[in-house]
Amino acid sequence: MARRRRRSPPIEMTVTIESMTNDSRGVAHHEGKAVFVDGALPGEVVLCQTTKRTSKYDEAKVLEVLEASVDRVQPRCSAAGVCGGCSLQHMNDASQIHAKQQVLLDNLKQIGKVEPEVILPPLQGTHWNYRRKARLGVKLVPKKGGVLVGFREKQSGYLAVMDSCEVLDERFSQLIIPLRELIGKISIAKRIPQIEIAAGDDAGILVFRHLEPLSESDMELLKDFGRQKGLSIMLQSGGPDSIVALYPETIELLEYRLDEWDVSIRFRPTDFTQVNADINKLMIAKALELLAPEGDDEVLDLFCGVGNFTLPLARIAHRVTGIEADSALIQMARENAIHNGLVNAEFITADLYDAPLDGSWLHRKWDRILLDPPRSGAMEVIERLPELQPKRIVYVSCNPATLARDSDILVHKHGYKLTAAGVMDMFPHTKHVESIAVFEPA
Ligand SMILES: C[S@@+](CC[C@H](N)C(=O)[O-])C[C@H]1O[C@@H](n2cnc3c(N)ncnc32)[C@H](O)[C@@H]1O
Repeated sequence: MARRRRRSPPIEMTVTIESMTNDSRGVAHHEGKAVFVDGALPGEVVLCQTTKRTSKYDEAKVLEVLEASVDRVQPRCSAAGVCGGCSLQHMNDASQIHAKQQVLLDNLKQIGKVEPEVILPPLQGTHWNYRRKARLGVKLVPKKGGVLVGFREKQSGYLAVMDSCEVLDERFSQLIIPLRELIGKISIAKRIPQIEIAAGDDAGILVFRHLEPLSESDMELLKDFGRQKGLSIMLQSGGPDSIVALYPETIELLEYRLDEWDVSIRFRPTDFTQVNADINKLMIAKALELLAPEGDDEVLDLFCGVGNFTLPLARIAHRVTGIEADSALIQMARENAIHNGLVNAEFITADLYDAPLDGSWLHRKWDRILLDPPRSGAMEVIERLPELQPKRIVYVSCNPATLARDSDILVHKHGYKLTAAGVMDMFPHTKHVESIAVFEPA
């Protein structure tokens, strides 16, 4: 019979925070063992209580800050510290991005054994109400006052009790209570697990996932909500293909404009798009500046989504090819190229994790390559990039650990040099680190 491991009881300890982890927790040592303290900042002395104890390390949460860092600020949100959406509201804006830069450089050094020749200045934008896309959990919890809507708690995985969300776009940030009240009136409240929110420049959409059919009166409630709040309402009964319009009867695609390149990008609410519109514009400008296509350069945009980088690139480069696994996104990217009158952008559906990679695009020379993979990075395609003989590679990353792993391959196996790297404040107050790196043949 399997023996159940006994949990060590929580203990309290006073520690001095030495540094920060990749996921924004304070690192300290207590009796020789590492302790990762949620809510603590470097330089602080805190009284904390363990939340998990193992033979190698402990995890803990702050009970009291005994000596505060000069970087500490009062969080704006009442759920900060509990809600898993934000991890850094207790740190001032400038120190947050500086800490993220340090996470990037530490990862590059420790995992990739590389250092950039130049550290790019951080790209920064608005710190609040920046998030245009989110998936909100929904749960009927009578003992917590009825329906909860929002993000999961850091520690438990249960939904956090929240009334508003300061990082959501203004069109959604004050909707948490109205949504809680709305779901409370719906006959199948227990069977609504999630609401997806998405906004373009001019319109916002709420997609209600429901596991049972809604009644006529439920649908009237949802329509009324959309009408009152000036938002479109969609219903999702199954997979992504089951999404249908409820209010109004026909819903236009969402759209964001990239005026600097005279491009507008259309998308459906569940398509991948960058969450922070301001930083996205700065990021595209920086990526294009760093990639610097010239003359008749052929450009490859890997993990291209709906064409966020591809279409601005098509305005300044001779030809661009976008590659992406999701055929629905490729279809949207093609339509976006037509809609913007761009005839020098083409798109190919390909799974860039399916090694050995294949496709005619791998048997051509590409002068400049941009890549923007998911969190798991791009190891499979990175292995093949030298065959394509790029003069420059610009790598946009949402995970410094996989960027560092892939940098190791490019630099130490394939002889590239890391000429520049820097962070972008795509997700203020959260633990997420967005970065950009440039590689050139050594
Ligand atoms: C971080 S997003 C970037 C999208 C786009 N560059 C943008 O800025 O909107 C990563 C993209 O990689 C795509 N993707 C995920 N897995 C993939 C795979 N195995 N092969 C190719 N593309 C993949 C996703 O569908 C998503 O569009």
